[in-house]
Amino acid sequence: MMIWLPLHFFTIAILTSGLKLTMADTLNYDKFVYSEFNDPERDQLLYGHFPDNFTWAVATASYQVEGAWNEDGKGLSIWDTFTHQPNHIYKNHNGDVACDSYHKIAEDIDILKDLGVTHYRFSLSWPRILPDGTVDNINNAGIDYYNRLIDALIAANIQPMVTLYHWDLPQSLQDIGGWSNDILAVYFNLYAELCFEKFGDRVKTWITLNEPYIAARMGHEMGVHAPGLRHQGTTIYRVGHTMLKAHAKAWHSYNTIYRPDQKGSIGITLVGFWGEPASDSDEDRAAADRYVQFMLGWFAHPIFIGDYPDVMKEQILKKSRAQGLTSSRLPSFTEEEINLIRGTSDFIGLNYYTTQLVRHAETETLPVGFLEDQDQVAWYNESWPKTGVPWLRPVPWGFRKIMNWIKMNYDNPPIIITENGVAEFSDGKEQLLNDTWRIQYITSHVNEMLKAHHKDGVDVRGYTAWSLTDSFEWTAGYAYRFGLYYMNADDPIRKRIPKASVDSFSEIIRNNGFLLPYEQEIKMGAMGTFGKWIQSFSQVFRKG
Ligand code: NOJ
Repeated sequence: MMIWLPLHFFTIAILTSGLKLTMADTLNYDKFVYSEFNDPERDQLLYGHFPDNFTWAVATASYQVEGAWNEDGKGLSIWDTFTHQPNHIYKNHNGDVACDSYHKIAEDIDILKDLGVTHYRFSLSWPRILPDGTVDNINNAGIDYYNRLIDALIAANIQPMVTLYHWDLPQSLQDIGGWSNDILAVYFNLYAELCFEKFGDRVKTWITLNEPYIAARMGHEMGVHAPGLRHQGTTIYRVGHTMLKAHAKAWHSYNTIYRPDQKGSIGITLVGFWGEPASDSDEDRAAADRYVQFMLGWFAHPIFIGDYPDVMKEQILKKSRAQGLTSSRLPSFTEEEINLIRGTSDFIGLNYYTTQLVRHAETETLPVGFLEDQDQVAWYNESWPKTGVPWLRPVPWGFRKIMNWIKMNYDNPPIIITENGVAEFSDGKEQLLNDTWRIQYITSHVNEMLKAHHKDGVDVRGYTAWSLTDSFEWTAGYAYRFGLYYMNADDPIRKRIPKASVDSFSEIIRNNGFLLPYEQEIKMGAMGTFGKWIQSFSQVFRKG
């Protein structure tokens, strides 16, 4: 009996692994997450698991959750300034207290443990560490706070994934021009080096910048994010230019000074919506590609290939000339800068939320702006499901497509999904805890990621859900609720309450993907023919 036992398990393992596909094929487990998308070839649920070292995370960002905006020596950020001015944000909400995460490390660790994540992605508030943005004045209370958070995470066996910049620039650096001033690359690098020095013994995954596209566009052209500038078609590109240099400098500092001892990895997080051509015409296909190039390629091309995408250089030069300018509004890099930036990301952090249909549309020279530079129009297909957020229609197959686009254009770099999620709209009084829409969203997107990995050979290494709790959602204040946990900003104790999606996401994490049908049967104890067969087979062995 004793001899048979290991053999018995061994045999089952061999048999089951050999029969996995047959079982999935023969049983009728056809399943679609969204009835709206039921292309049998494309949208059917795939069963299977990610590699063992796949990482599972959930994310937040300092200004969105910390609160304590003026405590313990923290300096002002551009978001403090912006939200304290009237009429920028839904109902004039602000992040003064937010989820009060500055005072609630233990509560956050508890819910992270409940979820079962391997990693927690959060950002450091630059002005909490350096109140005036420079290393001349270090706020030790800020360093202590992040040390406590990092230590608590590690004690809970959760690895920190740290973003250095998630949009809360020290106000004093904005006062000297912010990201449109080249010198910011130097200040950012000094700040980054300090963070590597203080936290790099425990932080092994670093992200330099979060979505420079959004920071540049919404903050400097649309004026709806801090610092609230509306400079059409100019500052946006200068901001992006400095950010790329800042990122590259920090990567090099880590690579040469800190990596040899600390042995971590460092990358950048970029937002990439998929642009689906509205028709098969060459014009629309090219327009859809421009859509992706102007959003993702703007930052990814200089890092993974070198210099801006040709199509951006050509378009912006053409439009600038048509305006009567003698040179392009898109600044150019020197050869030295191109080389400095190329190759400076160990992985691409991808934030994916949605897809748009795109068609070619020549725009007049005026008005001038980032959109006009692209000669395209983009919109959502009305048949795609609606969510609480007008700009977010769940299109899971677009997620797989953008991952494949990255694979094809940048030679299959490692991808970490650093954000993916959906929100409901509510002023908070209504607790929408039965969030079936989030269960559908996460399930379908993780499944598309599995297809990208298994069927397309995309090198995706980890998935991060946005977000841990409902939090300050920028212009929408607390009304767009992206959290797996409900949080009411009017509740003095800001209790974190799990939504239904917590169970479903943690099950995906526990299973490292999706149980194959026979695994589900074995797990549920409701054994089908195959399970019974294994059982009797094992009994034969036991009798020996
Ligand atoms: C991306 C941003 O990084 C994050 O801060 C924001 O809350 C989510 N998108 C949802 O809009």
